[in-house]
Amino acid sequence: MMPAATIKADSTPLYDPCLLQGLDWTQNTVTFSPAISPADPGEGLVLRPLCPADINRGFLKVLSQLTETGIVSPEQFIKTFERMKNSGDYYVTVVEDTKLQEIVATATLVIEHKFTHSCAKRGRIEDVVVSGECRGKQLGKLLMSTLTLLSKRLNCYKITLECLPKNVAFYTKFGYSVSEENYMSQRFFN
Ligand SMILES: CC(C)(COP(=O)(O)OP(=O)(O)OC[C@H]1O[C@@H](n2cnc3c(N)ncnc32)[C@H](O)[C@@H]1OP(=O)(O)O)[C@@H](O)C(=O)NCCC(=O)NCCS
Repeated sequence: MMPAATIKADSTPLYDPCLLQGLDWTQNTVTFSPAISPADPGEGLVLRPLCPADINRGFLKVLSQLTETGIVSPEQFIKTFERMKNSGDYYVTVVEDTKLQEIVATATLVIEHKFTHSCAKRGRIEDVVVSGECRGKQLGKLLMSTLTLLSKRLNCYKITLECLPKNVAFYTKFGYSVSEENYMSQRFFN
């Protein structure tokens, strides 16, 4: 692995962008009006994998609308990006407003490898957030539909997410249902 300090905040994609363009959008189960897709998310917008340069395009500012991001140096950001890229199991996806060169929405698919289910893969959806001024423009739906289809394309046997009760109705649109299992957690620090 290259030392983090020598890696520039460039346009290297976290994962192969062809995966997004190659999705079979006819399998999408959600209605978009007007019609949008991963290849055509709307005028002046692009949907693509995260790249290191997104640290300078407000990526963390968007995430901070979801949860505490803390102080993140460019070195820390790039080191984490490299770890994710080298693992091959992180699909942090963003929508960029290309005119403003600002990230306006993001969501992540993480792949977990199992010994169970004949060594299957399980998908997890994390960190779904659309910037305040861009909500209600179908970008949350676009990201969720895209990553759910991507998890199928990557042969996950199932996909899960955790959300607040107020967001359950949003996720049921994409085929997710509330599980009987309890979500348990223990926090060690913020
Ligand atoms: C939840 C969130 C991602 C939705 O994104 P969005 O871009 O505003 O929503 P979209 O425009 O793509 O989707 C609109 C549709 O979803 C519905 N919707 C949006 N937010 C919803 C919510 N919280 N609960 C239920 N339905 C919701 C709308 O009614 C609309 O339905 P329709 O298509 O049938 O008309 C966004 O509001 C957000 O970032 N919220 C703050 C962060 C957050 O809570 N993230 C989820 C963490 S689990």
